[in-house]
Amino acid sequence: MTKLAVLPRTAPFAEQDIAALDRVIRDASAPQRAWLSGFLAGLDASESTVATPASPPAAAPTLTILYLTESGNSERLAESARAAARKRGFKVQVLDAADATPEALIGTSAVFVIAATWGEGEPPQRATTFYQAVMADAAPTLEGIDFAVLALGDSAYAQFCEVGKRLDARLAELGAHRLADRLDCDLDYETPAKSFIGDILSRLTAKHDGSSVIHVDFHRLPGDSVGTALDRPTPFPAEITAHHPLTSSRSTTETVHVEIDLTDSGIRYEPGDSLTVTPRNDPAMVEAVLRSVGLDHDDDTARALTTERDITTLSSKLVTDYAALTCDPALIALSIDETERHAFVQGRQLIDLLERFPQKLQASQLTTLLRKLPPRHYSISSSQQLVGDAAHLTIATLEYESAGRTRLGVASGDIARRRRRGDVLDIILRTNTSFRLPEDPAVPIIMIGAGTGIAPYRAFLQHREAGGQCGASWLIFGHRHFLHDFLYQLEIQEWLKSGVLTDLDLAFSRDQPKRRYVQHVLRERADKLNAMIADGAIIYLCGNAGAMARDVEATLTEIIGADELRTLNSTRRYRKDVY
Ligand SMILES: Cc1cc2nc3c(=O)[nH]c(=O)nc-3n(C[C@H](O)[C@H](O)[C@H](O)COP(=O)(O)OP(=O)(O)OC[C@H]3O[C@@H](n4cnc5c(N)ncnc54)[C@H](O)[C@@H]3O)c2cc1C
Ligand SMILES: Cc1cc2nc3c(=O)[nH]c(=O)nc-3n(C[C@H](O)[C@H](O)[C@H](O)COP(=O)(O)O)c2cc1C
Repeated sequence: MTKLAVLPRTAPFAEQDIAALDRVIRDASAPQRAWLSGFLAGLDASESTVATPASPPAAAPTLTILYLTESGNSERLAESARAAARKRGFKVQVLDAADATPEALIGTSAVFVIAATWGEGEPPQRATTFYQAVMADAAPTLEGIDFAVLALGDSAYAQFCEVGKRLDARLAELGAHRLADRLDCDLDYETPAKSFIGDILSRLTAKHDGSSVIHVDFHRLPGDSVGTALDRPTPFPAEITAHHPLTSSRSTTETVHVEIDLTDSGIRYEPGDSLTVTPRNDPAMVEAVLRSVGLDHDDDTARALTTERDITTLSSKLVTDYAALTCDPALIALSIDETERHAFVQGRQLIDLLERFPQKLQASQLTTLLRKLPPRHYSISSSQQLVGDAAHLTIATLEYESAGRTRLGVASGDIARRRRRGDVLDIILRTNTSFRLPEDPAVPIIMIGAGTGIAPYRAFLQHREAGGQCGASWLIFGHRHFLHDFLYQLEIQEWLKSGVLTDLDLAFSRDQPKRRYVQHVLRERADKLNAMIADGAIIYLCGNAGAMARDVEATLTEIIGADELRTLNSTRRYRKDVY
């Protein structure tokens, strides 16, 4: 028998919340209801200092939160915004641009877009179809809809927050009404994003019920509010239990295998996930930066620079900020000439700026000038089914020549060259639900990758080995030299022998006069590729986002056609994890 609803449909909650509350209250016993009513009364009393709208909105306004994400930051923000909006009585729908069309925005009162930029000023891969549709001439008009854009990016990139900027301009062109100026966020986006979400919701509430804008202190909201949901978890100090090179001493590149102990961390990961690592700056660079601004021997600032501040990235914005801080005429001249400024930062680091335009700074001026040290991500190259309370990482040392100096990547250089067994790495798990093995182990998989792109595939293969019976799996792996750079060679050969891996193709680019890459293998084996796709295979692509990913994608398009690749992408049978 159907149970009758307890809550009236006119209750001041969104429809789905009324249904959820009703389900709980309807089935609750008398003591449970009494407890709930006491609990809510107590909660209200303890929250009386939190600013809330004077009265709930008359009829819940509809808000669509649309996110464009690659690595999940925008999605997490969208979920936090959803929780905060519901609390204020909005009817909310959250849309992943990967599953949406521009037409889905019609009929909503307001759209809040959270958009990340990837590649070099491009939209996240799964959002490409949506992005192109919204930019196309045939995009629908969006008159009568309020909108706001929160753009996520990294100021180290020349095309900073480009996708957010373009969407912001395009929505206005399509007739939507800009509720607030766009906010462009750098890698430490949590705090500004928090306030922005709060501000947008306040504006929408005020617009809806005709009241003035109420600014809510989002740090003080309890429960699943924006304030708490966005705080990064505390990193777990994981001991390094193994650390050894995977490339030979004669290799022109260096890749290390690192194992860490997760005992007592509570971390459960899946193949495809990665770890966020807190990097540590090179002590020699910390010293050089301090010396260049006259702060030698300042131990407190040295400590802060080692673990908290980005002391290498030189962005265009940093040049402008340094010019404004120092008022050096030559620097000001450089900072106002956009072309010169962009040219100057190319291949240079902060130390090049400080040494070229030396100025004495106070410690607080220096730390305010520098952005927070962004964490780095590393794909997990193990399966917990096989390694238990441990995680393995496969890290290539970034080393290049620029502006007359040899540069080492901050995190990769630190982990490969300075960390050893027994040291600690501070890590946070970063789940990636879009780069998972298929749930059905019988589904065939095609794994394409170069260099450290092998990392998640090692996790996949360990997982399939632990699980027993599984479908066809084809690995196409590329690096420079067979003799020096065949990462995990013995394990891969074992998997081929045991049948966990059913096919293997290798492309060692520098072993013959003409360069040979993974895309060449794909072209040669187009028949096999088509046959596996016809059998329902999932295609994975992992590794460098530059030439490798671009060329592989162009070759896939050539072999199977742009429409088919788009379909595979939208049905999640083409999955990329490129960086
Ligand atoms: C989801 C994800 C998974 C990843 N998995 C792995 C993995 O499994 N293994 C792995 O090794 N890495 C992985 N990475 C990359 C990793 O996070 C770091 O980006 C990489 O280690 C470099 O970081 P770093 O601190 O050493 O270098 P940084 O100090 O951050 O230096 C990088 C910067 O150096 C500059 N630069 C680089 N090359 C040149 C050049 N030739 N000329 C001029 N400037 C240059 C660029 O400005 C670049 O932004 C992954 C990244 C992501 C996003
Ligand atoms: C390979 C790569 C390329 C990126 N390209 C850009 C870029 O061109 N412009 C920019 O502003 N940010 C760029 N970013 C930074 C991302 O936009 C930023 O990390 C953002 O927080 C990611 O959000 P998401 O997790 O929702 O995808 C890039 C990041 C990576 C790893």
